[in-house]
Amino acid sequence: MEIRDVLRSLEREALAAGVPILRESERDALLAACASARPARILEVGTAVGFSALLMALRCPEAEIDTIELDPARHARAVRAMAEAGVSGRVRCHLGDAAAVLPALAGPYDFLYLDGPKGQYLAHLRLAEPLLSPRAVIAADNVLFRGLVRQEGPVPHRYRTIVMRLRAYLAYVKDHYDTAVCAEGDGLAVSRKKEN
Ligand SMILES: C[S@@+](CC[C@H](N)C(=O)[O-])C[C@H]1O[C@@H](n2cnc3c(N)ncnc32)[C@H](O)[C@@H]1O
Repeated sequence: MEIRDVLRSLEREALAAGVPILRESERDALLAACASARPARILEVGTAVGFSALLMALRCPEAEIDTIELDPARHARAVRAMAEAGVSGRVRCHLGDAAAVLPALAGPYDFLYLDGPKGQYLAHLRLAEPLLSPRAVIAADNVLFRGLVRQEGPVPHRYRTIVMRLRAYLAYVKDHYDTAVCAEGDGLAVSRKKEN
């Protein structure tokens, strides 16, 4: 099957089943960030059913991709999607908690896409940092979380931890990397290693 046909099926299925996948409004920004890294190897946390991994595989036809998913059913669908699209040889789907899988991977990766649990972005970045190449680009999705991350004043109780953790992620990447936040959709933070 053509990659574009598999993408269409995945998108349809994900919408019907309520599986979260990259919003249309954020796709161009993610793919531009990804292509700007001229990646030989890409690392993704949060495969879901493989939609964003397949988009990156289409945009970067030479790149190898490692992607990590905690949920066995989503992982299984992603594995099938890669086979249907004929990219199983260069897209490896790992099943497990990223906190356990990341330390077992070998770098270097030129592009890191954080799209797993938002409260764990900083922890996952810290685990992935030793795997990043000197020119690596890092993208993290949903960093503005419904506008609450930049909002002054009280945050609804149920979102407090996630908002605090996303603020901590943004503070870290602004301090340690050159970081720009694309406010389209729910916010995509793109970070590059600082030039010395
Ligand atoms: C927003 S979805 C990913 C969407 C996907 N990147 C896309 O755009 O097609 C986040 C995924 O992260 C997975 N996840 C949650 N906690 C995780 C963990 N600790 N390690 C790996 N994956 C995790 C969830 O099961 C979910 O499928």
